[in-house]
Amino acid sequence: MTTELTPNAENDLPGGNTVRVEIDDNGIGWVYFNRPDKRNAMNPALNMEMFEVLDALEGDSRVKVVVLTGSGDAWSAGMDLKEYFRETDGKPRWVQNRVRRQGTDWQHHKLINYPKPTIAMVNGWCFGGAFVPLVSCDLAIADVDAQFGLSEVNWGVTPGNLVTRALAEVIPTRDAMYYIMTGEPFDGRRAEQMRLVNEAVPADKLRERTIELANRLSSLSQWVVRGTKLGFRHSRLMSWEAAEDFLYAKHDQAILFDEQARARGMQGFLDDKSYRPGLGAQD
Ligand code: COA
Repeated sequence: MTTELTPNAENDLPGGNTVRVEIDDNGIGWVYFNRPDKRNAMNPALNMEMFEVLDALEGDSRVKVVVLTGSGDAWSAGMDLKEYFRETDGKPRWVQNRVRRQGTDWQHHKLINYPKPTIAMVNGWCFGGAFVPLVSCDLAIADVDAQFGLSEVNWGVTPGNLVTRALAEVIPTRDAMYYIMTGEPFDGRRAEQMRLVNEAVPADKLRERTIELANRLSSLSQWVVRGTKLGFRHSRLMSWEAAEDFLYAKHDQAILFDEQARARGMQGFLDDKSYRPGLGAQD
């Protein structure tokens, strides 16, 4: 039995205001932060629209991989200082809490548990709050000249939201402490050295390399890829015993929902001798 990961194809594209979506023939859902005039700073409207977009693409069978990128010359300049901070300052505490939660709802919780592979394609400026969705995407490719920064100290706040926590997930302590405490910007090459992103490539290769990676991911069983990414995300926080049980549950779940992937894999190698799994997937 093979069960579709997402059976409900939608015909319309979600978003259209602060978030723009394109779905291409390769099964890539291109999701753009779409406030280029504001360097794609995340205001409350964008946070809500992004959640709705990701929710819709989760249930859209045309989309196998989601790429998160930015319109114009920015990936995202972080939280919107005017609309996210200044304009909510005087509001009741419950309103402020809701605005904050609507940010992390998609920037972390939605992305971390997203059933499809996600790639951050960092095409330009990436500051402060933007580090949360950056780290929450499964993989990240950056323009070598993209500028990153934990700029919070530069404008008089500590890196709140989940910025510091996200940073601690992927980069070494010395580097994290250096950049959160000094607020110095750094480029895509430095981000690659610290493993904040998987790779940094020249601007004219950014899209090509991202598509190549997305195609690789979408050629594999979606259930296997889903189990693999969620297995890694969650098991690292468990005891070894709990992790063993959880990872076998993910393993068995992938077989249950896509039993052909494993059967074909074993047959091709053991019986047909048509490929070597150690060197790549079957055609
Ligand atoms: N919040 C709100 N507005 C922002 C913003 C943010 N994080 N980042 C950029 N903008 C707005 C600017 O206010 C400006 O709006 P205006 O045209 O209405 O005046 C517009 O975007 C363009 O910004 P500008 O500074 O002129 O662009 P630039 O290309 O010269 O510089 C940045 C780009 C990203 C280096 C610069 O805008 C910046 O430092 N932004 C703040 C980054 C930051 O500290 N983010 C952390 C938030 S947690």
